[in-house]
Amino acid sequence: MNTRALAANVLNQVVEQGVSLSQALPAAQQELSPKDKALVQVLCYGVLRTLPRLDFFCRSLMKKPLTGKQRNMHFLILVGIYQLLYTRIPSHAAVGETVNGAKALKKQALKGMVNGVLRNFLREQDSLIEQADQQDTLRYCHPGWLVKRLQNAYGKEIAASIMNENNHQAPMWLRVNARHHSRENYQKLLNDVELSSIVAEDTDNSNALCLEKATDVYKLPGFEQGWVSVQDGAAQLAAHYLDAQPGELILDACSAPGGKTVHTLELQPQLKQMVAVDADAKRLVRVQENLDRLQLKATVIHGDAAQPNSWWKGEQFDRILCDAPCSATGVIRRHPDIRWLRRDSDIAELVSLQKRILDALWAKLKPGGVLLYATCSILPDENEQQITSFLQNTPDASIIALSEQCNPGEKGRQLLPNESGMDGFYYAKLQKSL
Ligand SMILES: C[S@@+](CC[C@H](N)C(=O)[O-])C[C@H]1O[C@@H](n2cnc3c(N)ncnc32)[C@H](O)[C@@H]1O
Repeated sequence: MNTRALAANVLNQVVEQGVSLSQALPAAQQELSPKDKALVQVLCYGVLRTLPRLDFFCRSLMKKPLTGKQRNMHFLILVGIYQLLYTRIPSHAAVGETVNGAKALKKQALKGMVNGVLRNFLREQDSLIEQADQQDTLRYCHPGWLVKRLQNAYGKEIAASIMNENNHQAPMWLRVNARHHSRENYQKLLNDVELSSIVAEDTDNSNALCLEKATDVYKLPGFEQGWVSVQDGAAQLAAHYLDAQPGELILDACSAPGGKTVHTLELQPQLKQMVAVDADAKRLVRVQENLDRLQLKATVIHGDAAQPNSWWKGEQFDRILCDAPCSATGVIRRHPDIRWLRRDSDIAELVSLQKRILDALWAKLKPGGVLLYATCSILPDENEQQITSFLQNTPDASIIALSEQCNPGEKGRQLLPNESGMDGFYYAKLQKSL
């Protein structure tokens, strides 16, 4: 097993065949030692974070691009350049192991070519880097359409800082299960096993801790007993903003893998019922797994949130969480493939799906009830603009403050990934008139 060849194959699948990294990577990591597993992960994440830059270097150093059956060799070269530029692997080892990767990919005859390109890169890197820094897509390593959308939404400076943040690894956030421990108690338990953590800045985010250094979940005290879960700080705000009350009927309409369903149940043990719906049957299995690990109960339904009449039991909900399908542009740090798998044209389609879901769910909300709209997007089309147009078209809807702690003037809230260590997210809380 040559780790560089394995990484090249994963990258080929993601970039050329549109397979998601979360699907392609685990399949390639089977049977690897923990050390090799970690290396393949670093190489795949790293190359996807810097793809257009590495592509540019490779193209500049070759007379013609590698295509067809030789395409995986293109990705092997990118893996090689990535190691030379962004890792501490000594250059002779990086070049040697990458060249051996050609043999593992059954392209023995191309070993010399790979060696030559990598050595030329070492010689010419300064001038190539200077050229790359002159183009926005190469400098920020985001597709041109997304650079433009972010610059239009936030201006050049903030967009640059968001994109730089997207190119870094996200921190590991924990959600302490309020049914077992206070956050302060759990922080002490973490200290006992030499894991340092920081409390979330936001006062609403009362269960959130950010680890200073990521760790294996099984090293977390009481992970298997459900004392703690891994969930980004921004995602944890959903259950606090939803603020479910005793005796209520709650719908989590796009629930899989269930992070927000279980958090809501952790916070409010006296619900009448929690209904967790999702359109993806495979992802719904993870909702049940999460419920089981945490020993919580919900009614899990495979259904389309845009067509609730096919699964709705006839009683309107007190509160609805609509964590809508979205561009996921707020979580690029965690899923570096998103920016290459998404297309500009996806955004309009997503906006229209979100609208259909919102309209359909609104009819299933009690008068006086609350709907929390959430996305892990940082594009205004899916967020403020979506909610503004919903409010214009829905006379019995008004937007209310997300929590008592929130400034009443701040209605919807756009969190950006460059602000507080948390993912990019959007929240808006809507109330139906009595
Ligand atoms: C952002 S994810 C939800 C994350 C989840 N709320 C959590 O915290 O773990 C969006 C979910 O919407 C689901 N989805 C997409 N279209 C849907 C539809 N029409 N009806 C219901 N669920 C849908 C996807 O399968 C996906 O699981």
